[in-house]
Amino acid sequence: MFYPLIRKALFQLNPERAHEFTFQQLRRITGTPLEFLVRQSVAAKPVNCMGLSFKNPLGLAAGLDKDGECIDALGAMGFGSIEIGTVTPRPQPGNDKPRLFRIVEAEGLINRMGFNNHGVDNLVENVKKSHFGGILGINIGKNKDTPVENGKDDYLICMEKTYSYAGYIAVNISSPNTPGLRSLQYGEALDDLLGAIKTKQAELHQKHHKYVPVAVKIAPDLSHEELIQVADALVRYNIDGVIATNTTLDRKLVAGLNYCEQAGGLSGRPLQSRSTEVIRLLSAELQGRLPIIGVGGIDSLIAAREKLDAGATLIQIYSGFIFKGPGLVKDIVNYL
Ligand SMILES: Cc1cc2nc3c(=O)[nH]c(=O)nc-3n(C[C@H](O)[C@H](O)[C@H](O)COP(=O)(O)O)c2cc1C
Repeated sequence: MFYPLIRKALFQLNPERAHEFTFQQLRRITGTPLEFLVRQSVAAKPVNCMGLSFKNPLGLAAGLDKDGECIDALGAMGFGSIEIGTVTPRPQPGNDKPRLFRIVEAEGLINRMGFNNHGVDNLVENVKKSHFGGILGINIGKNKDTPVENGKDDYLICMEKTYSYAGYIAVNISSPNTPGLRSLQYGEALDDLLGAIKTKQAELHQKHHKYVPVAVKIAPDLSHEELIQVADALVRYNIDGVIATNTTLDRKLVAGLNYCEQAGGLSGRPLQSRSTEVIRLLSAELQGRLPIIGVGGIDSLIAAREKLDAGATLIQIYSGFIFKGPGLVKDIVNYL
């Protein structure tokens, strides 16, 4: 109800400062009686996906809570799942600031954060302190200074360290802000990575007596041909799910608007139709052999329904949450 006012104040700050300020406040109220300020009750809309029971299909997408610092406060807003990360084995500062831009007229964001995070050990400590009752996804990546040929090792380190704390693990090979990362979406590099991940998953399954599904997050900028190849590899390696999509490099829909020339990935409304198209193509190719988690430009109930209609089993939001606030969670979940 108050979000338009809060947003007006936050949008006076530069986007990253607004994010830091909001997180400071969320951390301050977590675990105190003031947590009621962000608590929302939403209808139960249970969904089974990847062998897990989600309270509702709406999740928070990766990148907002990279270190898992505000899991409980974000969880109180009614999400069925929260995906924290992307986390890397070692802490890293990310790219130079400014690195996050609002394209207000288009309700879009451009970011080139570059996996700024405090490292996987810190994330695990934060997860241990959290009490979120929904499904916690942990999104993993590689450090910038790890050569892409050795990128696999970083994913395996993160898997090893997060496995027993994760509801599912998301393998991010689609951020445009880590040089070379997206090359892991193709051919032999993809096969090699998926094979290693499945072997590690089997080993950790035995060790922890718990099966943690692994989903792979892909870019919206793959061609139709490339999407078919990725879908085929995900099926061949028995990957548990696919998250579509990450941000786009395409600037067609924001041409001429402020900040549209900034380097990085574009998200929010300008990504909506492309990500839905990717989901539709994947769905046709996969024929239900693995579930799709749909993300990209969901900013309303209708946009959420479009993703589900296109073939997604679960959906996630990031930019829409920034522009519309926590009320969007309620609007989507209650009326789905
Ligand atoms: C500032 C920012 C940071 C992000 N960081 C990550 C990240 O660390 N890992 C990741 O997989 N996706 C990241 N994303 C992508 C989102 O998870 C999501 O896939 C994308 O923004 C499309 O959804 P949206 O249109 O609802 O924002 C980030 C997005 C934004 C805007």
